[in-house]
Amino acid sequence: MCGIVGYVGERNAAPILLDGLQKLEYRGYDSAGIAVAEGGKFTVVKRKGRVKGLSAARSLAGKTGVGHTRWATHGAPSERNAHPHLFGGICVVHNGIVENAAALKAVCEARGETFSSETDSEVIAHLVAAEQGDLLHAVRAAAEKLVGSYAIAVLSESAPDTIVCARKASPLVVGYGEDGLFVASDIPAIAAAGRRVYTLADGEFAVLKKGTAPAFYDASLRSVEKREIAYDAEEDIPEKRGFRHFMKKEIAEVPEAVARSIPDLSKGDFSELYEVLCQTEYLHIVACGTAYHSGLCMKHAVQKFARLPAEAFIASEYRYSDPIVPKNTLAVAVSQSGETADTLAAAALAKERGARVLAVTNVPYSSLERMSDFVLPTRAGREIAVAATKSFNAQLAALYALAGALAESRGKSAPPLAGIQPLVREAAAAGERVRSWMPYFVGAKSVFFLGRGADYVAACEGSLKLKEISYLPSEGYPAGELKHGTLALVDGRTPVVAVVTDPALADKTMNAVHEVYARGAAVFLITNVSACLSCAEITASVLLPKCEPAYSPMLSSLPLQLLAYYVAIARGNDPDKPRNLAKSVTVE
Ligand code: M6R
Repeated sequence: MCGIVGYVGERNAAPILLDGLQKLEYRGYDSAGIAVAEGGKFTVVKRKGRVKGLSAARSLAGKTGVGHTRWATHGAPSERNAHPHLFGGICVVHNGIVENAAALKAVCEARGETFSSETDSEVIAHLVAAEQGDLLHAVRAAAEKLVGSYAIAVLSESAPDTIVCARKASPLVVGYGEDGLFVASDIPAIAAAGRRVYTLADGEFAVLKKGTAPAFYDASLRSVEKREIAYDAEEDIPEKRGFRHFMKKEIAEVPEAVARSIPDLSKGDFSELYEVLCQTEYLHIVACGTAYHSGLCMKHAVQKFARLPAEAFIASEYRYSDPIVPKNTLAVAVSQSGETADTLAAAALAKERGARVLAVTNVPYSSLERMSDFVLPTRAGREIAVAATKSFNAQLAALYALAGALAESRGKSAPPLAGIQPLVREAAAAGERVRSWMPYFVGAKSVFFLGRGADYVAACEGSLKLKEISYLPSEGYPAGELKHGTLALVDGRTPVVAVVTDPALADKTMNAVHEVYARGAAVFLITNVSACLSCAEITASVLLPKCEPAYSPMLSSLPLQLLAYYVAIARGNDPDKPRNLAKSVTVE
């Protein structure tokens, strides 16, 4: 999603903005730009494509400026639509979506104003320019007219040493150090040893004025005292550490991520949560994408071990489904970033309807963490590649532990997770065998992933991963459902990956293997049921270590992640930055 960086201080702004934007590249974007104020005038440089296209702007003079990476929502990716947007001496960068942009634009046009872009964001510059008074009051008056979500940083020709920022449902952090004041949509863009960092809450404003400490205000412009947040400046510098891509590095980090993310829920810190688990009668798990898949895995484990009604919902569907939230519902909101707009909205709705909300997130101080009653942190470490890998396995570690605690709270038990790390390591090593499968996948027409139960969820996750970075059409399908229609798509150019880790369901899934083989498909097996390996119809396989079937996605996900990675590379794609996608989806 879009990224914002702003700076005001004693140094030249342009290099700071460009370096900051580079650190936000992982979020996904399609154009970028910066504006620097010098002598009361703005110089703007914008480009379609990568931040490196702005390198000529590095030498611009000016000690106040804002920069932006844009992920197109309104209007195609182009130089014209890239931010910053200027109007009437006002310069704006914006993340989010102005839902009433068309109506606001019509009002501005009726005043005789013209627009230079097709974006929803440009209207903010027009609204601020139309206001009287100082920049803070003008931004607040403009913000009051906006429907939707925004994080904005605003400059004015008449206040050259000041940036005014505002936030609603889109993250923004402020940094303050000896070298000046910073604003960004994420900590890595402004992290540095000794620099204090503060997060803005929804409805808040910040004024960054050269030579002073940042000032924060609530929606009524009453001054707000803020505590700086603790962050690790070293950890926030994303590095590949010898790996060719972040995605491969992050897959290699899965075993540690899993070990670190298994919480000890019997510890005092979780006693209040444990009490709530004891009272819980229904579980609503809300999440998007890969996090939704980890929610589905948890649902299987909770039903198996705790015998508690649990449902996993796609957050964007949940929020508009008028959900029934019975008394004693615990809503578990799962999100790597903690900033996914749909997940935040779904969790807020569950809360509004009486559920307690438990956040399972990888990002401390995220919006999800702040709005939840309880937090179960995953400790995967920063994930840079757009495709979620180690965060998925870390979520499973936390969610399976939660399923175990729910079982315990009902006098039942779940198999321990303690010995899982070596098995994960083994699965990662075994998974490298998928590299030799490339000839079957690189030119494939489409790919099917099959499984039953928890293996079906793993199949869906494998398929999502392959789609997003290889751009091959693919589906995860329940093995038993294939013959009800989808089998018509299978032919000799449709490799099929079958995930078989539950001995009780192995024969059933193998029936589907026979069916697709009979239609000409090459079949690849990811299994820990060794008997399946003797099937002559299998082209190649990965043998995983044995583990509790409900936990097996923790292992089978590794060869699936590696398969997606190697296919993406073999097809010439950048697995870290897939086209059209963003790491953190902060708009609806
Ligand atoms: O940050 P979140 O976990 O809330 O993100 C949810 C999805 O956007 C995310 O998992 C997405 O599906 C991944 N790119 C998949 O690899």
